[in-house]
Amino acid sequence: FRPCRFMHSCCSPAEKPQKFNKIHRDSFPENFAFGVSTSAYQVEGAVSTDGRSMSIWDSFSHVRGNIYDNSTGDVTCDHYHRYKEDIQLMVALGIDAYRLSISWSRILPDNTGRVNQAGAAFYNSIINELLHHGIEPYVTLYHWDMPQYLENDPQVKGWRTRKIITHYVYFATTCFRLFGDRVKNWITVNEILNIAVSGYGTGTRAPGRCSVISGTQKRVYIGDSATEPYLVAHNVLLSHAAAVKLYREQFQSEQKGRIGIALNSKWYEPYTEDKHNVSAAQRCLEFELAWFLDPIFFGDYPVSMRITAGSRLPSFTEDDTKELVKSVDFLGINYYTANYAQNSDEELDPSLRWYSTDRQASVSSRGADGELIGEAMGPSDGGWIYDCPWGLRRLLAWMQARYGKEEFQDCPILITENGCSDPELNLSVKKAKQDEWRIRYLHGILQHLLDTIRNDGCNIQGYFIWSLLDNFEWDKGQAFRFGIYYVHHQWNLNRDPKLSARWYGYFLTRSNNLN
Ligand code: NOJ
Repeated sequence: FRPCRFMHSCCSPAEKPQKFNKIHRDSFPENFAFGVSTSAYQVEGAVSTDGRSMSIWDSFSHVRGNIYDNSTGDVTCDHYHRYKEDIQLMVALGIDAYRLSISWSRILPDNTGRVNQAGAAFYNSIINELLHHGIEPYVTLYHWDMPQYLENDPQVKGWRTRKIITHYVYFATTCFRLFGDRVKNWITVNEILNIAVSGYGTGTRAPGRCSVISGTQKRVYIGDSATEPYLVAHNVLLSHAAAVKLYREQFQSEQKGRIGIALNSKWYEPYTEDKHNVSAAQRCLEFELAWFLDPIFFGDYPVSMRITAGSRLPSFTEDDTKELVKSVDFLGINYYTANYAQNSDEELDPSLRWYSTDRQASVSSRGADGELIGEAMGPSDGGWIYDCPWGLRRLLAWMQARYGKEEFQDCPILITENGCSDPELNLSVKKAKQDEWRIRYLHGILQHLLDTIRNDGCNIQGYFIWSLLDNFEWDKGQAFRFGIYYVHHQWNLNRDPKLSARWYGYFLTRSNNLN
């Protein structure tokens, strides 16, 4: 293995954790928050209950062929009716924090601005129940479920026009007003990258717009993959900044909470040490993470993006920049895996350019020596996670190097998602519950996280497993299970602790009994 460019002595992939009992909760700083994550559409179900209206995910998942197993979020884990039971699972685990998201169309089901009281009551009950058990709610405002009426509105067009900013800020304000007396950690949006690229580039996720065909996918050509991902990401960023400004001006001093964003990135390792591959890896990180972090720390997009995307990448006005810079009190990072990046300087017909070709790199899970970057944690059909815990450490070091160590002392980092699916589809319940692979993966991450905290001076304040429950994994449906609790989707929706739930509970309390 090549040595790490950040000169770490102990983040070589060769050093796999030998034992699972070396670290435990007390190894981490005192106020470090351990939690689990979910999101509204993935767990709630009850999609037309108590006045909720449709989101783009309801429409998308109901089109046959859009979802791997043709499942939908109509029922999924029925968390809407079972949230108390689910909070009991959290209590049994001994977690400090629970990251959930709010369904926009449950709170604001139409364009009149009227609040759906039943929707508000549901989130009030969850928040109160969590606090009653000493679990801190971390609330994401937007986890991909744009109300369908805003997507359909010809003036607004979902994220495709700046008009969405007012609507998003209104939704955010409504939530601050309704829940901010008790919610002290707000996350404006989850994974802009996925919203933009999967929703408007490949079209594999809602609202399913695209003009390129990826893999075996067969899609109607609507949208323009060359421009829409950039446009949408731009409007999401501006909406984020506007909501933060409003929170800081009108709520923060009274409610005493903090507000951040959750972004995702893989780590990209150069395919070889060749300088072209080194810059390809750098470009991948810029197209994946600096796309959003550069505006937040520097006020503009990375130069590499401007060079290849040109005028397809929108520009910020001076006011936009002012609002964006330092628009986070903390930064959420969703980390799952790493890939190798190789330079690709193939001349392309300009009409075929879009996000994936603009970065001028090909990415893969195998290195030049043919070795996988880490053990495959997902099925060969559609799996994308390789067990690469050292990638997280390198990613955090890359961020520190680019944005400044001091910056991250003021702006703490939380790992808002980390986890893996089963290595095969359709495992028997018995096998799925014996998920040693997941324990190995999670444990490896925690070990590397601890090294990062201890040795790299990184101010990391929390870690959330994705996910508490097997849930609706977007285009992969219920077939891909990420939970530490098995959910009997085909039967009675009962939750069954997997070995990983027992391990996490033991890690957190050392004496847990999750019967
Ligand atoms: C990212 C997303 O935020 C979450 O919704 C998804 O289920 C997990 N990663 C796993 O793919």
